[in-house]
Amino acid sequence: MSRSAHPAGPRHADVLPEGHYSGPAADLNELDPKVWAQTVTRDDDANGVVTVGGIDVKTLAERHGTPAYVLDEDDFRQRARAWRTAFGHDADVFYAGKAFLSRAVVRWLHEEGLNLDVCSGGELATALSAGMPADRIAFHGNNKSVGEITRAIEAGVGRIVLDSFQEIVRVAHIAQSLGKRQRVQIRITVGVEAHTHEFIATAHEDQKFGIPLAGGQAAEAVRRALQLDGLELIGIHSHIGSQIFDMSGFEVAAHRVVGLLKDIRDEHGVELPEIDLGGGLGIAYTSDDDPREPHDIAKALTEIVTRECDAARLRTPRISVEPGRAIVGPTAFTLYEVGTIKPLDGLRTYVSVDGGMSDNIRTALYDAEYSVALVSRRSDAEPMLARVVGKHCESGDIVVKDAFLPGDLAPGDLVAVPATGAYCRSMASNYNHVLRPPVVAVKDGESRVIVRRETEEDLLRLDVG
Ligand code: LLP
Repeated sequence: MSRSAHPAGPRHADVLPEGHYSGPAADLNELDPKVWAQTVTRDDDANGVVTVGGIDVKTLAERHGTPAYVLDEDDFRQRARAWRTAFGHDADVFYAGKAFLSRAVVRWLHEEGLNLDVCSGGELATALSAGMPADRIAFHGNNKSVGEITRAIEAGVGRIVLDSFQEIVRVAHIAQSLGKRQRVQIRITVGVEAHTHEFIATAHEDQKFGIPLAGGQAAEAVRRALQLDGLELIGIHSHIGSQIFDMSGFEVAAHRVVGLLKDIRDEHGVELPEIDLGGGLGIAYTSDDDPREPHDIAKALTEIVTRECDAARLRTPRISVEPGRAIVGPTAFTLYEVGTIKPLDGLRTYVSVDGGMSDNIRTALYDAEYSVALVSRRSDAEPMLARVVGKHCESGDIVVKDAFLPGDLAPGDLVAVPATGAYCRSMASNYNHVLRPPVVAVKDGESRVIVRRETEEDLLRLDVG
């Protein structure tokens, strides 16, 4: 096994955009455990082929084809468990299904004691069909349809997170017409937006989600919800952003949410029992990222909320969080076969793989950074500056913008892009009628398809002429 941490000094600095990539790893055969799933190792006795869950990637490619998302089940379960354990029994962890959802994943979450956040009828159907108890499901979304709301209430979801004034009335009305009282939270925007290492604490009410705290709107939403018989208001929800490393955004959010809880107590004599701080915790996409451990995050969030509540003389509410990326992101990599290699003199080498923006839109959409490694063999050739691109008719079809790969890379080699467990399969498309890849779970030397590869028959079945 050869896994180690990372890079030497910058090379090819003339063509690299500043600050984008710090240079090739001292040894491109090394796999940084920060970005690869836990059971990933390089087998130096077998020409350096990479294995995961006890199976080598060449066998996986033969069995399941490429491209394929390969998901390490043990890693997923361990991360889910780490979040659950970190928050303990006085808090709830809702896995955010939007990051990646399948029936197998729902079962793993159930077994590991997590709850589930869904935000569409499709995610709700997947959760229910895999046996997640409805009372452990939270239903989100800024424009849930009447049909979705009805189905969620009928199923008995544990909470619906209300996102607008219309929805407060809509959910109350539907619940009442079904003879039920629905547990709800109100999602508010606290004027904080956090992404990666920064947060901004002004003016971010300018977005489609939630009801602004500013101008008394959130307080008015609470007033209305408390008056409606169909609703049982159990708490306030806040989600501040994505891929966050810096806890100070949560600190400001918690301060403002607790401020609202205090105002509610003062106005209505009610202490709401729950507070949800959303998801958004960051993972390592490259060796430059340093995510915090669930234990540290739980400790920090609990301390912040407790401190704020003590200051406001409130009972500390039950805390919940909704990590998606931080659980599933690091557990999978995308396995591709190299098709063509095009060196552009003085620039870089374009390496085309058999997938692209249809299986990972994040690079094109967010300028996201990923790393990549040759995984079907080891190579001691000189590093070359590469751009890993897909097979789509779009010049922005980039999977990994700037990365070093061995200079002897050849068609037929397998490369893998780590940390693609979150928001890759779930945001996959059929652009160019390219078929969406399977998700293959690996564990103890076995591989199992948990979401099968799309087929041309699937495409044609939808096309009814
Ligand atoms: N809770 C709520 C209310 C959310 O809106 C989200 C994400 C989460 C939890 C989970 O956030 P996570 O822990 O996974 O960061 N497509 C983007 C991410 C969009 C996230 C939307 N909401 C990406 O690929 O980075």
